[in-house]
Amino acid sequence: MVLKANYRLRRFKPSDLDWVIRINRECLPENYTTLFFMNLYKRFPETFIIAETNVEIVGYIMCRIETGIPSFKMLGITRKGHVISIAVLPKHQRKGIAQALMQETMQAMASYKAKECYLEVRTSNLPAIELYKKLGFEITRTIRNYYADKEDAFVMAKQLHLSMK
Ligand SMILES: CC(C)(COP(=O)(O)OP(=O)(O)OC[C@H]1O[C@@H](n2cnc3c(N)ncnc32)[C@H](O)[C@@H]1OP(=O)(O)O)[C@@H](O)C(=O)NCCC(=O)NCCS
Repeated sequence: MVLKANYRLRRFKPSDLDWVIRINRECLPENYTTLFFMNLYKRFPETFIIAETNVEIVGYIMCRIETGIPSFKMLGITRKGHVISIAVLPKHQRKGIAQALMQETMQAMASYKAKECYLEVRTSNLPAIELYKKLGFEITRTIRNYYADKEDAFVMAKQLHLSMK
């Protein structure tokens, strides 16, 4: 995915934190403490990525690498990349930024040796569900009352290929 010339992706750095918190609060009801953001950055810096213009940060993605049961039919346990949060400011949406953030983070997950990428999404969040489907994600299960307001979540997952470097 090639981003439009006026947008760039790069790894998050601590001085970006205020921007990222602002975008998170503007775009999502799931908000986190400073400590939570910084902990994910310290543990998994390669999968915390921001999108910016020359004047501002416009989107971010942050993830955690976990070990657990595979989403697809395989025995044993596997390494999984979990997308914890992704958002793009409304005035910069529908420009391919989230798609580029997802692709970049999935490449970084593969570098952590993750075999799959998965995430939870509100069952009503059609823009996000369409984004993940476009990237090849499948709905693997539904978690009832997952969110604080009791909305259900779809779990969506995609296998990562070792060629994604
Ligand atoms: C979901 C979100 C991250 C998408 O960001 P974005 O940068 O606008 O997405 P992209 O431009 O990369 O879109 C890629 C594809 O996703 C799908 N998509 C994105 N927004 C959509 C919308 N409003 N309606 C339908 N499909 C949509 C389309 O298939 C789109 O491709 P297209 O533009 O060629 O049709 C953004 O809407 C957002 O920040 N929402 C609030 C936060 C949120 O819901 N995060 C996800 C939590 S699980």
